[in-house]
Amino acid sequence: MPYRDVHETAWWRADVLYQIYPRSFQDTNGDGIGDLEGIRRRLDHLVSLGVDAVWISPIFASPMADFGYDVSDYRAIDPIFGTMEDFDRLLDEAHRNGLKVILDYVPNHTSDEHPWFIESRASRRNAKRDWYVWRDARADGGPPTNWQSEFGGSAWTFDDATGQFYYHAYLSKQPDLNWRNPEVVAAMLDVLRFWFDRGVDGFRVDAIHHLFEDENLRDDPVNPEWHEGLPPAQRLLRSNSMDQPEVHGAIALMRGVATCYVNERLLIGEAYLPIERLMAYYGIELSGFHLPFNFHLISTPWQPKCIAALVDDYERALPPGGWPNWVLGNHDRPRVVTRLGPRQARIAAMLLLTLRGTPTIYQGEEIGMADVPVPHNRIRDRFAFNAPAFGRDPERTPMQWDASAYAGFSSVEPWLPVAADFREHNMTIQSADPSSMLSLYRSLIAMRRREAALAIGSYTLVQASEHMLAYERRHGERRLLIALNFGERFEELESLSPPAKLLLSTDPERQTDGFAHAPRLNPQEGIVAELAPPEVVVR
Ligand code: GLC
Repeated sequence: MPYRDVHETAWWRADVLYQIYPRSFQDTNGDGIGDLEGIRRRLDHLVSLGVDAVWISPIFASPMADFGYDVSDYRAIDPIFGTMEDFDRLLDEAHRNGLKVILDYVPNHTSDEHPWFIESRASRRNAKRDWYVWRDARADGGPPTNWQSEFGGSAWTFDDATGQFYYHAYLSKQPDLNWRNPEVVAAMLDVLRFWFDRGVDGFRVDAIHHLFEDENLRDDPVNPEWHEGLPPAQRLLRSNSMDQPEVHGAIALMRGVATCYVNERLLIGEAYLPIERLMAYYGIELSGFHLPFNFHLISTPWQPKCIAALVDDYERALPPGGWPNWVLGNHDRPRVVTRLGPRQARIAAMLLLTLRGTPTIYQGEEIGMADVPVPHNRIRDRFAFNAPAFGRDPERTPMQWDASAYAGFSSVEPWLPVAADFREHNMTIQSADPSSMLSLYRSLIAMRRREAALAIGSYTLVQASEHMLAYERRHGERRLLIALNFGERFEELESLSPPAKLLLSTDPERQTDGFAHAPRLNPQEGIVAELAPPEVVVR
């Protein structure tokens, strides 16, 4: 069992979460695309890794224009992934292995092939017309506002049949639901109940900052700081099309559903927002998400001072009782190894698993998978067609399990190419190698399970210099020092109380002898060390 404070720590505080991108985890039916049965057969990997919960990206019926983030039936499993029986079997087996299962809830939009939208677009008088966001053209015939789709281009598509535009924050095949309509709210909350009743332990809630747009249809202002390095949608400051105040009422309703279950079900919200605005997603008196995803480690410059400042800003901004969380990557962002290089990725792993807050690991991070270059003729992500630099295929390639054909992922050519070096770089090889990334992840997770100081202890910054980041985690008498050398040279630790004992290093070459007397870190080394218990003050 994972470490739990026997008193009242909620499970999701002490747990380590793991994201599965199901298309690329394990194929078992020979179509080159991963499936639920594949996840079930690979549960042993997750158990030996030591994670506590898996979040599975969407598995619901979908035309797959956005690979499941365009749902055409929220209560059905897409045949690509299997059947409802497969799902129940997976859920049951995960639970028997002590793993929680979190699904992906896509409330902002459906597929244009969802029966609700098919009805809605049938006529202006259809009972479901108002379930989506339909508006007239501007006087000049153009779209109602200048709002931009996340994937580039106008966020409005004209529908010839009824002569109006509909709004879509993403692809035109992903029309936005109208959350101002109570029938939509009721139908969507029922979706949560449906899966909670089946035993699902929580939801990651997709694209929540897009749930509402300005009712008065005000244009978004131009972003004067936009440059080619930013996605096309950020040409505008999306003050009228994103992060509107009404969103918090809707989240509170979702939370209300989750709270009514025994062992309250977890809600994690996906919102790419600056820290101050993200904090509102915990809700008034924590009536919102348990964990609004914190993506800031992905974008903050990878330097000790910047990371220390980030942790500080984030910890200070947290509402009372709010619990932090940290993420290094996901199916939408370049992989951490590609961003930082393989050695810094080991430092990043130690950081992720020793900071205060729930960590989420993206599949493949634990074996140090890098982005895979995808040749033009194999591009699948539609975002890449509009904005090639932002295509998400490279971070979605098949999991590298072993040295057999297609890395043990499938018996046929997979939907995306497998990394060229999979024969040397895979789970099976790393499993037997104590110096591998996988062994490091296993050790870090095992340590987090053992050590209350890491799972739920306090955080205090010790040192943030040009190359070194060091902090203390503490629970009761137990004090652990984490020191991370981001640089290429040896670095002395400036810690006031010298570490008593080295517990773990990211550097397989590390000799432990004498460490306590001369605490010096190797280039690009991270360590966890025990500190002497606090001095007893004698009065
Ligand atoms: C989220 C998902 C992303 C998807 C988008 C639209 O950002 O993570 O993959 O394309 O929402 O649903």
